[in-house]
Amino acid sequence: KKIGICVSGGLDSKTVTKRLMEEGLDVVCFSADLGQPDEKDINDIVKKMEPCGAPTYIVDVKDDMAEICFETIKASATYDGGYWNTTGIARAVTVRGIIREMQKHGVDVLCHGATGRGNDQMRFERYTRALAPEMGVYAPWRDPELLEQFPGRTEMADYLAQFDIPAVIGMKKKYSTDANLAGLSHEAEDLEELETSCLIVEPTMGVWPADAPDKIEDVTLTFQHGYCTSINGEKLSPLQAMEKANEIAGRNGIWMKNALENRIIGTKSRGVYEAPGMELLHAGLENILQATLDRNSFKLYKQMGELISNLVYDGRYYDKTVQAARAAIDTLTESAEGEVKLGLYKGNVFFQSMTDIYASLYNEEDSSMEASDGLNPASSQGYADIISVETAALAKAGQFDDC
Ligand code: ARG
Ligand code: SIN
Repeated sequence: KKIGICVSGGLDSKTVTKRLMEEGLDVVCFSADLGQPDEKDINDIVKKMEPCGAPTYIVDVKDDMAEICFETIKASATYDGGYWNTTGIARAVTVRGIIREMQKHGVDVLCHGATGRGNDQMRFERYTRALAPEMGVYAPWRDPELLEQFPGRTEMADYLAQFDIPAVIGMKKKYSTDANLAGLSHEAEDLEELETSCLIVEPTMGVWPADAPDKIEDVTLTFQHGYCTSINGEKLSPLQAMEKANEIAGRNGIWMKNALENRIIGTKSRGVYEAPGMELLHAGLENILQATLDRNSFKLYKQMGELISNLVYDGRYYDKTVQAARAAIDTLTESAEGEVKLGLYKGNVFFQSMTDIYASLYNEEDSSMEASDGLNPASSQGYADIISVETAALAKAGQFDDC
C-alpha cells in the first residue's frame, strides 16, 4: 500500500512521516501551495521534510484558491455571521489538488494531520470520500497507538532525534494558525480562554487598526459579473487582485475579527481571523449589488450565500446543493458591473462614490425627495389610501389598543 501524507514541514508532519516509514509503508509527501502569507518560500517545506527520507511534492493551487475566494466574495458566503471561511474554502481546494497529484503517484491512502477534535478532519474525510472513493483516509491523530506514543511535542522531538532528524520544539505558541491566500486563522492555546483579548494576536497579513496610518487611503475597484477585474485602474487576474487587495486592506487594519463559531461537531470554537482582501473586495461588490438587485433578488441572494457558507464549512463544496446555489448566485450577479471608490481608514471601509453601474435600479429622479420629473407624489395618494384600508380594519378590531 502506498500512503500519501499531507505535510506542512512541521514537527507533526515529520513525526508522522518517519513513524509510518518505520512501519515499512511506502510513503510519499504532498503539500499545497495556497499562497500562504506566512510561508516565504513554499519549497522550504521540501527542505524541511528531506531528512525524513520520503519525497515531497508541492501542488500549486494558487489560482484555484483565488477562484474560490472570488466565488465566496460573490456569494457573500460568510459563516456564522462573519468568518470568511478561509480555512473551509482552502480545504476544498487543497484536498482536490492533492488528490489529483496523489492519483498520479498511485497513492492508496491519504493521511492528514488534522486533530480528532475539530473541523478539518471532517473536511479531509468528506472531500476524499467524494473525489476519490477508491482511496482510504488515515488520521494519525485519531489513532490510539500514535496518540499514546506522542502525547506532546517533546516525545515527537525525542523520537526524531533518534534518527538525527532536526526538530525544533520552539517556545510554546500562544495560538495555532492556518494560512492561505484568503486569510489566516488563529485559534487554540491561549485564545481558548475568553478572558484572553484578541489583541494578543500578531497580524500576519496586515496590522491592527490602531497601528494603521492616520490617513484615509482611497481605492477604486472595478467589477464585472461580480468579479473584481481591476484595482486602481490596473487590470488584474483573480490571484493578483487577491494579493493586491490583501496588501492594501492589510496595511489599513481591515478585518481583524474575533468570532465564536459553531463547529461541525457541535462544539463552539473561538478564533481570531484575518481576511483583509476578502473584506475589501466584498465591500466594493456589496455596493454594486445594492444598486442592481431588487428586493426579492436580494433576499434570495442572502439566503443562497448563507446556504453556501454553511455547506462549505461542513466540507460540502462539491455537493449538488452548493452547485445549484452557486448557479443562482451567478444569475443574480451577472449584471454586477461598475466602479466603486472606497475609503479605508483604521479598520473601516466606507463608501465614496460609484460610477458606470450597469443595470442599476437606482434612479435619482424617482428616489429624490426634491421636486423632480420622476415619481409623482400625487400618485402616492392611491397607495396610501389602499394600505389604510387594512390598517383601519386592524385598528377597529382593537389590535393596537394596548400599544
Ligand atoms: N475554526 C476555523 C475553521 O474551522 C479555523 C480552523 C483552523 N484550522 C487549523 N488547522 N488551524 O474553519
Ligand atoms: C484541527 O483540528 O486540526 C484544527 C482545527 C479545526 O480543524 O477545527
